[in-house]
Amino acid sequence: MICRFLLISGSLRDDSTNAAVLRTVRAVAPDCVTCDLYDGVGRLPHFNPDHDHDPLPAAVADLREAVHRSDAIVFSTPEYAGALPGSLKNLLEWLIGDDQHGSIYEKPVAWINASPRGAVLAHESLRTVLAYAKATVIEAALFEIPVTPAALGADGLVSDPDARDALRQLARTLSGTVCSARPV
Ligand code: FNR
Repeated sequence: MICRFLLISGSLRDDSTNAAVLRTVRAVAPDCVTCDLYDGVGRLPHFNPDHDHDPLPAAVADLREAVHRSDAIVFSTPEYAGALPGSLKNLLEWLIGDDQHGSIYEKPVAWINASPRGAVLAHESLRTVLAYAKATVIEAALFEIPVTPAALGADGLVSDPDARDALRQLARTLSGTVCSARPV
């Protein structure tokens, strides 16, 4: 049975280490896991409750569809100014108004803290917002895997074998928790 992850980076940078970490999750995940890398953070309009109804802005409809398709969401985000990036908060605000089955509500979520500087406040604020959205945080799949730009290979993936093992372990843990008990 395939377990489908939606991978969301909180960084818009072309050379983002967080995006590289998520690409590496996709590369090392076990065969039972399919990963969709979300690349639309920068295309989302600013959240406005006046526009949070049908027809939704196209980028928002695409985001919600991607969430619905997924069994779990994995975030990897930098910290900006002592919190999660505004662009990621904006994405989460667009998800909160979705009251359809398969939305962020009770969706299993996990994250990787790839910051060598700790980025405690980013992850505290991510947890706060996800709790508000009533997502289900899979505690066993929260991993701290510090990655510096120097740890990325020419292929744009994390090259360090220990970090790759840890990312594989995260994928195993999350899919095992979320999908192994799923009725067929
Ligand atoms: C940062 N960075 C940062 N880091 C941190 O630990 N706490 C912070 O409050 C901030 N604030 C901050 C503000 C601004 C404007 C910038 C540009 C950077 C550093 C940042 O989180 C770090 O470079 C990340 O590794 C960037 O992630 P990506 O883009 O490589 O994925």
